[in-house]
Amino acid sequence: MGFILAAAGSAVGLGNIWRFPYEVGLGGGAAFLMMYLIFCFVLCLPVMVTEIAIGRKTQKNAAGAFVELGFKRWKILGLFGILCGVIILSFYNVIAGWAFGYFFEMVGGNFSIAENFGEYISDITKVGLYGIIFMIATALVVSRGVSGGIEKLSKILMPTLIIMILALVAYSFTLPNAMEGVKFYLVPDLSALNSSTIGGALRQAFFSLSLGMGALITYGSYLSKNENVITSAVQITLMDVGIAFIAGLMIFPLVSFNNGGDMSMVAADQAGPGLIFITLPGVFETIGSWGSFVGAFFFLLLSFAALTSTVSLLEVPVSYVIDEFKVKRRKAVIIMSIIIFVIGIPSLLSGGYSQFFSSGFKLPGLKDPDFITFFSGVADSFLLLGGFLIVTFGAYVWKKENLNEELANGYPGFKNSLVRKLFNFAITIVCPIMLAFLFVVVVLNNFFGISIL
Ligand code: TRP
Repeated sequence: MGFILAAAGSAVGLGNIWRFPYEVGLGGGAAFLMMYLIFCFVLCLPVMVTEIAIGRKTQKNAAGAFVELGFKRWKILGLFGILCGVIILSFYNVIAGWAFGYFFEMVGGNFSIAENFGEYISDITKVGLYGIIFMIATALVVSRGVSGGIEKLSKILMPTLIIMILALVAYSFTLPNAMEGVKFYLVPDLSALNSSTIGGALRQAFFSLSLGMGALITYGSYLSKNENVITSAVQITLMDVGIAFIAGLMIFPLVSFNNGGDMSMVAADQAGPGLIFITLPGVFETIGSWGSFVGAFFFLLLSFAALTSTVSLLEVPVSYVIDEFKVKRRKAVIIMSIIIFVIGIPSLLSGGYSQFFSSGFKLPGLKDPDFITFFSGVADSFLLLGGFLIVTFGAYVWKKENLNEELANGYPGFKNSLVRKLFNFAITIVCPIMLAFLFVVVVLNNFFGISIL
């Protein structure tokens, strides 16, 4: 139970509730959703199983695991994953700070924060302070070891978040023009598919499932040999996809309500990073006197979901530093969180405070010219490459027979099952080919503006 909770905690976060809906909006709605679902189950699930199996087999951190299996040169892949975690946490913490700040602002009665979102994120004293608070919270949890208190909290707060989103889904369905939004979200228009939306769906899938950087190698070491790796991975994926799905179901009727049923505005208008920070609170406001209570509670739950993700992101470099340099956990946490906060400073400045970091990254394919968009594009590309290398490593270097043997622990019938055949087909052929190809698609599209699909 501990493992599933920790891994689901890592997966479920801002990626599901903040990023997923706006990516769907930019990606043209239902067609994006369809690709996303296919990618999660066909390309990502095998990567997830491989990561967890490597972690459980070796009981090591993301870099040490490769050495433990006897492949010293592959340690570089683990190190690269760790770097990737550092990059992601540096900007993720900034956005988590925005969300946490919303909680404070709403508790303090400043409900108009949503209308002034642009000013809010360029107010460096505020977002800087919220960012520092969030990093300290993450550091405190990680310095005490991942399990324990946060797990108990998770057991209550995750279901609470789900119930709250479902209640908001029900509410948003009652609003005028809701059905136009639902249609946009659920009825695919295949003409929306191209390099940018297909690549975007895969990037979103990797990011949301916390894949490609060895976070689940680290977490896999907590999974007992009696547990079934494949069922666990399926459970984590279903939980993560399910929460993203209902977040979309909550948002799109609201967008449609705001725009009088005109969903053509979604890509250009609200569907940026501001979706959850502008559209949603705007609707809370219409609830009346309960609005700020609902708003504050929502952002508190969102912050908690973000915290279980930042914890997993910090845990990866920390467990590496502890194993490798034999330092105390507390010291490793302090050093790493300071380094990551400093790397996050350009992201803090990219909300409007610094002209250069807010609009100086005008690469041909980039959606917005700000530093966070650029940095997250870099990180996403790394995740895809990491995922490709991890499955390829599992299938051809460590070898699929050894991987299969590890998967048979906790799954007695695995050897003669169809699941084994499908899994081996995925890791030897489908995933390496598709991930390598889509990695190229994403890099060309995102940084050079070249679309081959
Ligand atoms: N999956 C998390 C989210 O959706 C973010 C995250 C946590 C992550 N750990 C990760 C992303 C490791 C990539 C890799 O919010």
